[in-house]
Amino acid sequence: MNRRFFLKRSGAIALFPTLPHKHAMAAAEPINITARTGKIPIVGPDFPSTDVWGFNGQVPGTPIRIIHGQSVQATVHNELQVPTAVHWHGIRLPNAMDGVAGLTQPAIKSGESFLYEFTPPDAGTYWYHSHVNAYEQVGRGLYGPLVIEEKEPPIVDRDLIWMIDDWRLRDDASITDDFGDGHDRSHAGRIGNVPTVNGRFRDVVRVRTGERIRLRLINASNARNFALSFGALSPSVIAIDGQAVTPYKPDAPIVVGAAGRVDLMLDMNGDPGSLLPVVDSFYRQNFDLVKFVYDDKPLRESALDSNIHLPPPTLPEPDLTAALKTEVTIAGGAMGGLRRAKFNGEWMPLGDIARQGYVWALNDVVGSRLDMPPLIDTPGGTSVHLTIHNQTAFPHPMHLHGHHMKLLSIDGVALASPRWVDSPLVMPRQTVELAFVADNPGQWLFHCHALEHHASGLGTLVRIS
Ligand code: C2O
Ligand code: CU
Repeated sequence: MNRRFFLKRSGAIALFPTLPHKHAMAAAEPINITARTGKIPIVGPDFPSTDVWGFNGQVPGTPIRIIHGQSVQATVHNELQVPTAVHWHGIRLPNAMDGVAGLTQPAIKSGESFLYEFTPPDAGTYWYHSHVNAYEQVGRGLYGPLVIEEKEPPIVDRDLIWMIDDWRLRDDASITDDFGDGHDRSHAGRIGNVPTVNGRFRDVVRVRTGERIRLRLINASNARNFALSFGALSPSVIAIDGQAVTPYKPDAPIVVGAAGRVDLMLDMNGDPGSLLPVVDSFYRQNFDLVKFVYDDKPLRESALDSNIHLPPPTLPEPDLTAALKTEVTIAGGAMGGLRRAKFNGEWMPLGDIARQGYVWALNDVVGSRLDMPPLIDTPGGTSVHLTIHNQTAFPHPMHLHGHHMKLLSIDGVALASPRWVDSPLVMPRQTVELAFVADNPGQWLFHCHALEHHASGLGTLVRIS
């Protein structure tokens, strides 16, 4: 399984386009995933391998690929010295399978296992990751891709997954132990110094002229956001956070916030033998994330011109006229101007709260516990209109578990084509409007996916009865 992933990633060339599945409904095989330590050559042969925590010892962990309609049956074994649990990010699954230790299940103790079973209702690009001390466990590598293939996917030559991440490494390529560091909590989160694609720094991806690639970008970073440019390739965006969009060619770099996913269709139009860097420009300093290297022989003379549309989303449409209106203001952090907030039910000055490691609040409430009063408490089937105001100096990718939300507007400007998201990146001082049908019963987290922010108070609950 891992070997196949490696070959795909490093450029084994499929000679024939991927065709729709013949035996679409064969049952998916049960999967075993062991959380354990491993060693991976993140920085390449000139450096020692890095000690990581990975699912099946790999980073990314074993890719899970099923066909829409199939169920996932995954037994997670914990061979680490610490408890863990697995969250299936973006999947609208039953609450008991959501993997939030202390809320939806007890943590899986060292030496124990847990069986996750669910049938993803939507095709698309998702991922799984630890949800116990996530800022450390995801930061050490506990994540993997989860792909639910459409029953009749668009025809491509290759379907590639890029899990993009960044690591904070020392000169000997070991991971720095400063997880949950105070500066990271109150500023942009743990931003690393070694950006990677599928666990490799400055990787090279071999391609052929004329090749059509479906590229599934999954941002598994603790906190780093990406804005990627593909030079002259002009990719089409075909899905965001797993849900299909009408294909479009963006005129700016493609933003993939922490935890976000973007599916692209790439027609490799470069000259045989040429090179093309993929450049990130989210922060002040641009860098090459990865390079495409064209083979000397083209695959075909001109690009495929078959359909690239995915089947449209089948999410329930919120009723805006009857919606429960909820406003949430994100405050706190460095340069945030927050003076006092409610901590464990009591108003306190931010300085006192910060001494206990918390620096963020939602509607003046610090999300310090899983038994806190929920932001939203509503019967199943309610349409919710959610407005998020980011009054801080930092971007926050706000993730709602168990649901997708329709992004309606940004700073009061309605989107020409509203899109479904599960982890919208809300930029500093920005206001976004979202709507969703709260139709999945249970207690769900709603939190910032900059994992250090969540660990320091930027989270709340949505309770659906
Ligand atoms: Cu991707 Cu609360 O998680
Ligand atoms: Cu945040």
